[in-house]
Amino acid sequence: MNLKVEKAVNEQIHAEFFSYYLYLSVAAYFTRNHLDGFAHWMRVQAQEESGHAMKLFDHLNERGGTVELLALDAPQSEWESAAAAVEAVLKHEQLISGRINQLVDLANAENDHATAVMLHWYVNEQVEEEATADTLYHQVKMVEDNPYGLLMIDRELAGRPAAAPVGVSQTAGVRSTHI
Ligand code: FEO
Repeated sequence: MNLKVEKAVNEQIHAEFFSYYLYLSVAAYFTRNHLDGFAHWMRVQAQEESGHAMKLFDHLNERGGTVELLALDAPQSEWESAAAAVEAVLKHEQLISGRINQLVDLANAENDHATAVMLHWYVNEQVEEEATADTLYHQVKMVEDNPYGLLMIDRELAGRPAAAPVGVSQTAGVRSTHI
């Protein structure tokens, strides 16, 4: 396998596992603040992120590449408000989208068509993940001074279904009741 692409995919596996860590940290923040629906939604998203990492992990293995798991930094663990925590998630998804686009550029430049095609799934996924995080952020901002509004969103987020297992489409059944 092309070594430049292999290295970049390993770095993306790391980024996806960091996403897993970040969502878990946000879930813990919401649990501490008694917003269990938000916490549940973030935990389901953390599971999705683990799936994103494993899909890349499998791709490297299938292509004869070498998986190298890199050390994870501790994510932020405290935020000043629900809106700030959701904003952190939104900004992170925007960062991930930029990374995926760079990875597609690299795969194309290195004529690694199999990786480029595999990454199209991530390009589409990021459109959805950014849109979902953006909507949630703006809804939480709308009710910032209204605890009843926040509780209403919390009840809705509690209904998010569990993430699909690794190897099964990550989009199936998960998005419809996102927020
Ligand atoms: Fe794996 Fe939320 O990006």
